[in-house]
Amino acid sequence: MKTLHVGLIGAGFMAKAHSLAYDGMPMCFWPAPAMPHKKVIADLSQERADTAAMQFRFDKGTANWQDIIRDPEIDIVDICTPNDAHAEIAIAAAEAGKHIICEKPISRTLNEAKKMYEAVKKAGVVNMLCFNYRMTPAVQLAKKYLAEGSIGDILDFRGTYLQDWSADPASPLSWRFQKAICGSGAFGDIATHVVDMLRFLLGDFAEINARMATYIKERPVQSGSIDKLGTVKGGDGPRGKVEVDDQCCLCVKTASGAFGTIEATRNAWGRNNYITFEIHGTQGSLYFNYERRDELQVCFASDPGDRRGFRTVYTGPAHPYGEALWPIPALGIGYTETKIVELHKFFDAVVNKKPVSPDFEDGYNIELIGEAAFKSAESGRWEKVGTIG
Ligand SMILES: NC(=O)c1ccc[n+]([C@@H]2O[C@H](COP(=O)([O-])OP(=O)(O)OC[C@H]3O[C@@H](n4cnc5c(N)ncnc54)[C@H](O)[C@@H]3O)[C@@H](O)[C@H]2O)c1
Repeated sequence: MKTLHVGLIGAGFMAKAHSLAYDGMPMCFWPAPAMPHKKVIADLSQERADTAAMQFRFDKGTANWQDIIRDPEIDIVDICTPNDAHAEIAIAAAEAGKHIICEKPISRTLNEAKKMYEAVKKAGVVNMLCFNYRMTPAVQLAKKYLAEGSIGDILDFRGTYLQDWSADPASPLSWRFQKAICGSGAFGDIATHVVDMLRFLLGDFAEINARMATYIKERPVQSGSIDKLGTVKGGDGPRGKVEVDDQCCLCVKTASGAFGTIEATRNAWGRNNYITFEIHGTQGSLYFNYERRDELQVCFASDPGDRRGFRTVYTGPAHPYGEALWPIPALGIGYTETKIVELHKFFDAVVNKKPVSPDFEDGYNIELIGEAAFKSAESGRWEKVGTIG
């Protein structure tokens, strides 16, 4: 069996999720398209990189991500840094002929996304963007219902991503609140996941009318580069300005004529990772909540009136990717499983030389949606979503 050698850059939260997936992918998807070999992990200091190499089981650490680009043995560059480094690393990796798996959002700006998209297109390397929530079997099942026309023509929809880890103003000013590093706040960090799921399910977005807000304007400055995601309080140290949105609401018209809303906020006390969508068609409805990710709720208008209502389908081996995961429905799909499915799709694409979705083109399209949303928040009007090319 072929081996693909991996260099991972940015040894924080996502490095842990990706490392678990490299180990778990061949165990679930056997025979694997290729065996992953975790060769080098990079972070800003040698000490952090060496510790991460031990923790996440890479052969070695480096404080210089260019070592990974220069290493002729490396097949795959895995980008898990904050958003400010995505473009520089991805473009260098593409120019070196490496296949790339990159965390979302693609970049800080539309211009960076364009350059990344052009670089991978020119180099002809496989590229994947990590919108892993759509890899949840229940989301794939929703796609199947929609493709089969089970709920008829789509009329309207709503999507949410609500969180509270930073609802406390004492939670620190990490890179996620600094525009020069993250590019945008609630939109780029969380809304983009729902945008990706709804684009995947319903197709391209045509027009946006959006509102953005920043309620918590200052936070205690965080020391260290890893975002602790609200697990520690910032204390009484110096405070810094929050430069990005912490709430965004989008009204969306899709190219197919459906109308819906997408809401993302960091201020939703009691909501932890509340990623939901509800889709209404002429013949029924679908509802998904990631906090109950083994379940898809479905309602069909054709059911007799006295028994019509949402029913719950628990995903298991009969459902997309389910056979590779666990042999019993409702056993409990976790975040890691979404990363395992994602990695399997990526390895399959690299080995079999085929495109994979979501890719940098999807990422660029989502940046175009972001551009329309921020423009609308300024103008107060509906704005058309731009197209690539
Ligand atoms: N798909 C998802 O569900 C999901 C979830 C969380 C984060 N993310 C994305 O993953 C990326 C990383 O987020 P995270 O939560 O893992 O961040 P993190 O703060 O936990 O870790 C980032 C790490 O990157 C290192 N780093 C920063 N710049 C670097 C550079 N130039 N070279 C090498 N290392 C560098 C930092 O020192 C830190 O160790 C972001 O783009 C984020 O949006 C995606």
